[in-house]
Amino acid sequence: SCPQLELIPVIDSTNQYLLNQIDQLPSGAVCLAEYQQAGRGRRGRQWQSPFGSNLYLSTYWRLEAGVAAAMGLSLVVGVAIAEALQQLGAPDIRVKWPNDLYYHDQKLAGILVEMTGKAGDAAHLVIGIGLNIAMPTAATAMIDQAWTNLSAACLPLPSRNVLAATLIERIHQTLIEYEEVGLCGFVERWNRIDNFLNRPVKLLIGDRVIEGIARGINEQGALLLENDGDITAYVGGEISLRGC
Ligand code: ATP
Ligand code: BTN
Repeated sequence: SCPQLELIPVIDSTNQYLLNQIDQLPSGAVCLAEYQQAGRGRRGRQWQSPFGSNLYLSTYWRLEAGVAAAMGLSLVVGVAIAEALQQLGAPDIRVKWPNDLYYHDQKLAGILVEMTGKAGDAAHLVIGIGLNIAMPTAATAMIDQAWTNLSAACLPLPSRNVLAATLIERIHQTLIEYEEVGLCGFVERWNRIDNFLNRPVKLLIGDRVIEGIARGINEQGALLLENDGDITAYVGGEISLRGC
């Protein structure tokens, strides 16, 4: 079926916009903006969102399984985006735990899942995606890590409408699939496109730094890190993964 869709020229954040009206939204509602004045990433970080041809997209999803199932969501959405971009002609897109898409070791897109404490058992989630398509030069000085554009990864570059429509459809399909089969159905698909699989990485957990070899994710969506022959599973939103 056709989702409710709203196109907005200028907004603080498409995630915030949907969160503000979450009680009135049908599951699957989508908001797209041309520019975000306060685009955000995880833990208060900024998402550079200049005018141009990038994609700033959020969708509301009512997850009947509840909050416990929300943890796997950014992983599943990452798989959905990578597979959709592959279908559109960008074969080398990878995922980075827990919420990014990479191309050639550079950040291409980010996923931000936010929740509200609406009453009831279902989880009410807003899933935001920022995808760089062709970043205007003026905005690039603000990004303090290696990043890239879809224009470098995908030839020919599909129109932004085709991109948005394909991503929305694939994300919604994938969420339905996730509700049916759980994360188990995605572990292998995720690991297959893991940017850091079998590579040395470090985890930043507050002030601590833990080094090891990335071994993909387990069926709970935890990151597996091998250290001195032992594999430890790491869960939780306060962890950042970096290549060594
Ligand atoms: P983590 O691994 O914890 O997710 P992260 O550094 O990727 O860490 P996020 O909150 O996921 O942090 O994303 C925000 C970060 O992404 C910013 O601090 C900046 O380094 C980078 N960033 C901001 N805007 C963009 C953009 N348009 N394209 C690529 N990277 C960006
Ligand atoms: C990250 O890498 O931490 C996630 C970045 C998510 C950015 C998108 S852009 C659309 C939506 N609105 C926001 O304010 N953030 C997300």
